Amino acid sequence: MTDQTQQETLPRFSQIAQTNLHYLAWAQALIATAGSLFFSEVLGFLPCILCWYQRILMYPLVLIIGVGILLRDQRARYYILPLSILGWIVGLYHNLLYYGAIPEEFHICTSGIPCETRWIEWLGFVGIPTLSFTAFTAITLAMLWYQPAENADDDVLEDVLEEETAPAQPGYLRKSISALIAVAYVVVIVIGVVSRAVPSPQPVNSFGPVSSSTATPEVSETQSPDLSASYDPELVALGQQVFSRQCSACHGQNAQGVPNLGLPLVDSQFVNDRTDAELLEFITTGRVPNDPQSQTGVIMPGKGGNPALTEDDILAVIAYLRLLNS
Ligand code: HEC
Repeated sequence: MTDQTQQETLPRFSQIAQTNLHYLAWAQALIATAGSLFFSEVLGFLPCILCWYQRILMYPLVLIIGVGILLRDQRARYYILPLSILGWIVGLYHNLLYYGAIPEEFHICTSGIPCETRWIEWLGFVGIPTLSFTAFTAITLAMLWYQPAENADDDVLEDVLEEETAPAQPGYLRKSISALIAVAYVVVIVIGVVSRAVPSPQPVNSFGPVSSSTATPEVSETQSPDLSASYDPELVALGQQVFSRQCSACHGQNAQGVPNLGLPLVDSQFVNDRTDAELLEFITTGRVPNDPQSQTGVIMPGKGGNPALTEDDILAVIAYLRLLNS
């Protein structure tokens, strides 16, 4: 092989790769859509409001990229990129929120299904928002670098990306946008890994370790449910705090229940009939929709969807529930 042919094969390989990137984008959109439907329709996970916005932007991509491929539309990226970039932005916000990097006052997900619910946590940090963000990143990068096999003369974006903005350095804008997207993606992943490895600076149990023996009731199998008076008021206050953060979105602010979501936990026979130990076990495990005991067919996520909840936190919530039911 001569030097010349060697030089030619490399660009040709990258060219072939680039002319096929729309297939990669389509496969990624299909996997994301199928995965998201699997999580909600098969596993019964409940999509939060930010999840819905990402779904609105992801689902059509399967059809739009697909039709673009079928029609060999050289300008497919014009209608793909607006959706994928918007989805990427929503995904960026959702991930920062999910990993606790957004201060409370900038939370837009304050009612309905909590956006921080950890339905899955693969490798200790990969949640559903991480998967969505990965998909939007991959689709956006693929479509930015996608090169139609025959270059259309009137490819406006190509002009913008390649020539008009920086004639001296072709592809300057494309490279900068791609770099920005890639760097932001890596930063989010690092934040994710670090946030899950380092205990949160604001522990769920913000009252600090509960030390006195009255504050942490012994988990006794025989504890009578209506001993609410024996629970330390401080424990109950902590329980209320944990409840409002972790349970109220589904069970209502005062545990009165939310229609078609969490059952009422006041005047609750379920709560009254069970010992603290039984409630602790139930709240820790949760209940999946296909459990024979499920009453609503809606998932009750273990620990309210926050694996970081400690046994003490849950015992405090139980103390709070006892008071509500006394
Ligand atoms: C994502 C929504 C959601 C969150 C968050 C949630 N729950 Fe639930 N919970 C449910 C649903 C739905 C049910 C009903 C399950 C069924 O149909 O059996 C339920 C059932 C329960 C029950 C049994 C009630 C009964 O009468 O059968 C208890 C107790 C309970 N939840 C406690 C909690 C506590 C404590 C927390 C917070 C740590 C919490 N839940 C967080 C959705 C939620």
